[in-house]
Amino acid sequence: MFSSLSNAVKNVLETEYGIDDIAVSWERPQEVSHGDLATPIALQVSKKASKSPKEIAEVVVSALSKEDSIERVEVAGPGYVNIWLTPAALVAALGSTRQACTAKVKSGAPVIVEYSQPNIAKPLGAHHLLTTLFGQSIANIYEHLGYEVIKWNYMGDWGTQFGKLSVAVSKWGDGRAASEYTVDELLELYVKFHNEVENDDTLEGQARAVFKKLEDGDTELRAFWEDIVATTKSALTGIYDQLHVSFDTDKSESFYEDKMEPILKAGIKAGVFKEGEGGSLISEFSEESTMPPYLIRKGDGATLYSTRDIAQMRYRLDEYKPQEILIVTDIAQKLHFEQLAATCVQLGMDITGFENVLVGRMRYADKSMSTRKGNVLKLDEVLSEAVKKAEEKIAEHGDQIQSDNPQELAQMMGIGAVAYGVVSQNRKQDIVFDWDKFLSFEGNSAPYLQYTHARARSVVEKAGGATQPQKISQLSEKERLLLSTLLQFDRVLEEARKNHMPHILANFLFELCQDYNTFYNAEPILKAEEPARSLRVHLTDLTADVIKTGAKLLTLSVPDRM
Ligand code: ARG
Repeated sequence: MFSSLSNAVKNVLETEYGIDDIAVSWERPQEVSHGDLATPIALQVSKKASKSPKEIAEVVVSALSKEDSIERVEVAGPGYVNIWLTPAALVAALGSTRQACTAKVKSGAPVIVEYSQPNIAKPLGAHHLLTTLFGQSIANIYEHLGYEVIKWNYMGDWGTQFGKLSVAVSKWGDGRAASEYTVDELLELYVKFHNEVENDDTLEGQARAVFKKLEDGDTELRAFWEDIVATTKSALTGIYDQLHVSFDTDKSESFYEDKMEPILKAGIKAGVFKEGEGGSLISEFSEESTMPPYLIRKGDGATLYSTRDIAQMRYRLDEYKPQEILIVTDIAQKLHFEQLAATCVQLGMDITGFENVLVGRMRYADKSMSTRKGNVLKLDEVLSEAVKKAEEKIAEHGDQIQSDNPQELAQMMGIGAVAYGVVSQNRKQDIVFDWDKFLSFEGNSAPYLQYTHARARSVVEKAGGATQPQKISQLSEKERLLLSTLLQFDRVLEEARKNHMPHILANFLFELCQDYNTFYNAEPILKAEEPARSLRVHLTDLTADVIKTGAKLLTLSVPDRM
């Protein structure tokens, strides 16, 4: 339907002004009373047509008023065109919303989405939720919209920290094989290393020597490293599963070990890598740039995080020919990626599809959470706490909540509350961790979405299943509101994808739930007369499908009963 309206607009622009190369965009008016659709097209072409936006808008309005699907069309403000569709056209347009609930067939060059990327031998902290969940949601949205996505966990599994850990295990470990330590125990040993450095200044040197041995291929150290990596990965899997997080590859820093030498050689040859202080290698940026030089290799010949990232970029471009590479990280890495991008360009790589998708820091509404000992708030503990809190919530609302499996519901609600609580926030700002808000049944929260979904499903069940709407000539105000919100779904998905902003989808789902609940409270559904009844059951069913589809893209599961 949008395309037939777009064509009508394009035709009149061509015949009247000879403009034939313009895409017509549609938006939703700010106020519901201002119509179902609006387009700023007259404002956009005003310069080209050398006419005032108002004048052009009048012409567009008169062309559109001949369309069967339009009930009313008007010029608004400085030159917007606002449209009220006929009830029949609105109902017919719901087909596109239904379609948007199914994943599109994949095509085109792949999109690499890199996220989570924890460092090995350390337990995940609550702050890891950020890049993990924003990354997973972005990847899900791309995939749903028909992109071939490569979900990538690029872990910090290489570097001098292994030298430190090996020294710590042999000095202060209790003789067990490396594979028998838990991640928590490994962290303790690592922390001990750092504390002991104050008393023994030879420790750092020992660790460097051990790492050098590992890099040179020492078999015993290699086995040690493999054990530690395996322990960390198996601990991660349990957490990722709970969060509905998954990856297609975890080629991590160590994978690039043998891919750095050729890059270093080529960079030196091309004059991009120059000698820095103490025999190190650096790349430098233009005078106008405020970026400090980028350290590529240390004076002692050791490679760095940066060296591996250059190799990683080269490898991804050559191996996958991706249309986009999105690397989701904490804001603290901004400079690193700016230096990386500039260096890659100097090396002749085409990185137009690359973006460092930045996420703000985690803040805690409950101060005691940020001041816990050692300042690490372990993610597995946060998640168990979430499920416990959800159990309490369910017990509290015992009379309103029905579930065949309260245990399962608590899991869904607790984990969902935390996950949705995070991704429903604007990633560019600090993300506030707030138990009360996350677990509330009101407001933009997982329990609210879950509850609304279950409510809608139960209406459809009582109606004996979904119904096709019959011919409709009138809509009530609340029906119209719900309908025009439902019609935004595909546009919202595209907007969330394009901007890499999952919270755009979350805001929409929240609005949809509010509109549905308003409608539910205002209109009889099961007891309504035909043709209203079929339409209302249909709207209810579609609302449930849209909530379920959208929530899943944001890693949130919703129950059918609650
Ligand atoms: N492992 C790193 C850290 O925890 C993040 C990796 C980000 N990705 C990258 N390609 N450098 O700080």
